[in-house]
Amino acid sequence: ARDAGQDLERVLLTEDQVHTRLREMAAQIDAHYAGSDVLLVGVLKGAVMVMADLARALTVPVTMDWMAVSSYGSGTKSSGVVRILKDLDTDLTGKNVLIVEDIIDSGLTLSWLSANLGSRGPASVKIATLLRKPTAAKVDVAVEWVGFDIGEEFVVGYGLDYAERYRNLRDIGVLAQHVYA
Ligand code: PRP
Ligand code: MN
Ligand code: MG
Repeated sequence: ARDAGQDLERVLLTEDQVHTRLREMAAQIDAHYAGSDVLLVGVLKGAVMVMADLARALTVPVTMDWMAVSSYGSGTKSSGVVRILKDLDTDLTGKNVLIVEDIIDSGLTLSWLSANLGSRGPASVKIATLLRKPTAAKVDVAVEWVGFDIGEEFVVGYGLDYAERYRNLRDIGVLAQHVYA
């Protein structure tokens, strides 16, 4: 059987580094929401691992819900036009919403999503992401909690995929060239 770890050029962030950083973020998030409940909204599928670990590091009372979104048309996700594939089950009226993401690349997904959720009458909408790429700076999306700013490399693992693979890798790594070839 193939070892998916061999498809990595190098490890960018180890499982331990990710967990340590998520605990730091959780402490800040706990402090921010002290005394309130928080609805965590995970964006399928990449945010699954971040949601699982961040949620368990929090001590404020949380509920969880999930959305699945896709960009319209045949182009890349950078079209900025987003379609809801799976909507929330939860009414957002009066809720403190925290969107949980694995990565912000162009920022278009989150820019659209935070505006969409913001129109549903929540008390607040904020964003926590494990990773952010420099390209995200091109779109005006306010992100309260960022785990790591990374470079332009294509990263996989810990929820992040290439053609739906590698989401189950424990570390986050840079995909090796031979995988594309
Ligand atoms: C990835 C990632 C973010 C989004 C970021 O999801 O998980 O949700 O792209 O891109 P953006 O900032 O340029 O909008 P993807 O659409 O690949 O779906 P997935 O989570 O199911 O992998
Ligand atoms: Mn995603
Ligand atoms: Mg993806």
